Amino acid sequence: MPKPKVFATHPLFEEAREILDSNCDIQYWTDADRPPRPELLRRVKDREGLICLLTEKINDELLRAAPKLRIVSNVAVGFDNIELDACTKRGVVATNTPGVLDETTADFAWTLLLAVARRLGEGEGLARSGNWKGWNLDQLCGADVWGKTLGIVGFGRIGRAVARRASGFQMKVIYTDAVRASEETEKSVNAEFRDMNTLLAESDFISLHVPLLAETRALFDAPKFFRMKPTAFLINTSRGPVVDEAALVAALENKKIAGAALDVYENEPFIHPGLKRPNVVLAPHLASASLETRSKMATMAANNVVALFKGQRPPNMLNPDIFKKR
Ligand code: DGY
Repeated sequence: MPKPKVFATHPLFEEAREILDSNCDIQYWTDADRPPRPELLRRVKDREGLICLLTEKINDELLRAAPKLRIVSNVAVGFDNIELDACTKRGVVATNTPGVLDETTADFAWTLLLAVARRLGEGEGLARSGNWKGWNLDQLCGADVWGKTLGIVGFGRIGRAVARRASGFQMKVIYTDAVRASEETEKSVNAEFRDMNTLLAESDFISLHVPLLAETRALFDAPKFFRMKPTAFLINTSRGPVVDEAALVAALENKKIAGAALDVYENEPFIHPGLKRPNVVLAPHLASASLETRSKMATMAANNVVALFKGQRPPNMLNPDIFKKR
């Protein structure tokens, strides 16, 4: 029995490679840069499986170029790079990697929160510059984190993991979501529900944890910034387009909010020049980037592919309707 032909747009990690090498006829993209689109379209031509990153757009064009494709396995929990309907229409299974990155991403949301509140970026710049003249009473004074109010927008697994960490900082945690969590869940992470406008008005830190959907695109726009406290900070580790970047820049310029800490951007890797200011901490989409977690994500993506070719349902299917039709 010939092994299924699979293309992975990244060399992945050892454990994932072992799984794929023994179960598939696998080719890896090994260049440090992401594959150029024409090259990607060429490489998927005869492939039955594709393991991709969130930098690859999986749309009709790609699916047309890969007529034998049966599965697209995204090495990410977010899947806004995949046009699910187009996959479903062509009977292509799409999968993602939920669950394994929640705690690591929550750690990073806190890394950003603390960094922007305590002006770590500016402090590090000064310490490295050779211009530091020594301790001074009012030098780079930031904002306290402990005892403040943390507002979480999107109360899924990651939002809750962020909430859980707040107790050590003696913070009040409030959240908003399209669906209110159960009383038990709220109690377990010590969080209270608020409608969006109340959350905007009460929070000292707002951390975003919603997926990118039609309803969440530009969710944070000028009117939202207007409702925030002028002393409040915005933290975004979800998806860039959840924030209207031009409106955020205007809010920062006009001191409608105190600062922002961002891991994601509207048009990655482009970063709006107006965001490159001292009260904004900028990271290059790193929230899940621990070696342990990225390796788990790659293994999960590999297992999704192998399951399908063994005749099983991949554990992390995004379009299970495909199987209903069969
Ligand atoms: C995801 O998984 O969606 C992240 O953005 C990358 O970890």
